[in-house]
Amino acid sequence: MESVPNVQELVRNDPLQVPESFLIGNEEEEDKLQSTADKYNPSSEIPIIDLSLLSRGSEEELHKLDKACEEWGFFQVINHGVATEVLQEMKDATAKFFELPLEEKNKIRMPPDDFQGYGRAYAVTQGQTLDWSDALFLSIYPTQYRRPNLWPTAPEGFKETIEAYSSGVKRIRDELLRCLSSTLGMEKDALLNLHQEVIQVLRANYYPPCKMPDKVLGLSPHSDTSTITILMQEDNVTGLQIRKEGEWVPVKPIPNAFVVNVGDVMEIWSNGKYRSIEHRAVTTESKSRISYASFILPHAEVEVEPFGHIVELSGSQKYKKVKYGDYLGSSLKKGKLKGKSHIETAKIGS
Ligand code: OGA
Ligand code: NI
Repeated sequence: MESVPNVQELVRNDPLQVPESFLIGNEEEEDKLQSTADKYNPSSEIPIIDLSLLSRGSEEELHKLDKACEEWGFFQVINHGVATEVLQEMKDATAKFFELPLEEKNKIRMPPDDFQGYGRAYAVTQGQTLDWSDALFLSIYPTQYRRPNLWPTAPEGFKETIEAYSSGVKRIRDELLRCLSSTLGMEKDALLNLHQEVIQVLRANYYPPCKMPDKVLGLSPHSDTSTITILMQEDNVTGLQIRKEGEWVPVKPIPNAFVVNVGDVMEIWSNGKYRSIEHRAVTTESKSRISYASFILPHAEVEVEPFGHIVELSGSQKYKKVKYGDYLGSSLKKGKLKGKSHIETAKIGS
């Protein structure tokens, strides 16, 4: 960990230099060339879900949600009820935090034995290409998992801002989990209960600009090990891309919308009906970008396995039972995630 450089600092010191450890290999580069900004067909934009309609019990919107999880594994949520000022304050305060001098941010530097604090998105194992990003990672709910000494003390009011933002995300999370219980044919609180404890962790990703944007990745292709992930992106920079039928499709920001994706846990529970889609973040030459990912996870003791009633419908069980803590732990140990390789380990027949 010690030897992994802080990317923002690299760029501050010399914007032209890109150390070799960040340069993506040929294979990854080929993949990157398939990237589709030009070929990309605007009619294939990710689905938009109106949360206010879901809250009012719209069957039509529920059906849209079901299809979005099945066909895309990604959707954007509008009319979610979180005030624009709350979102904007989160963006302003986080931007100020990342602008602080390194010594200041390092006061809450991620300890080697923890994932919380300021540091990197993933543990890095030797020989892996490094991602062009830094991150602030905090456990939010339940509150007893917080490490208050790893929470930022600057800028002033940041803690309260994180609190207000996260409680907004929590409301969206609970509403979506209730709706997804319904679309999966269960009573409304089923998914919430199955978590034993619904865990919410926040990662703010900071992607500095890069003079060689085609030679690095902000975040390498991966699927999330969560149940769902609720992400806020900035309005004016596109960076997130999802893999759809072999092509990388950019997720164009909709102001004040959240991007939600199905994670591995949901893929396993739904026996593959809902898909945890590979995605990545690219950088740009001149603009930095910050994204805010809230990962929703079950308690570590939860045994995750496909729901019986769905297995019956689909004819065969496609995933083994995994204890969530073990699943997450072995994924973290592998270091940087590689595409969907981790969920392969839970597939029957693997
Ligand atoms: C993540 C992630 C995408 C982004 O944090 O897991 O996929 O746009 N982030 O930063
Ligand atoms: Ni992700």
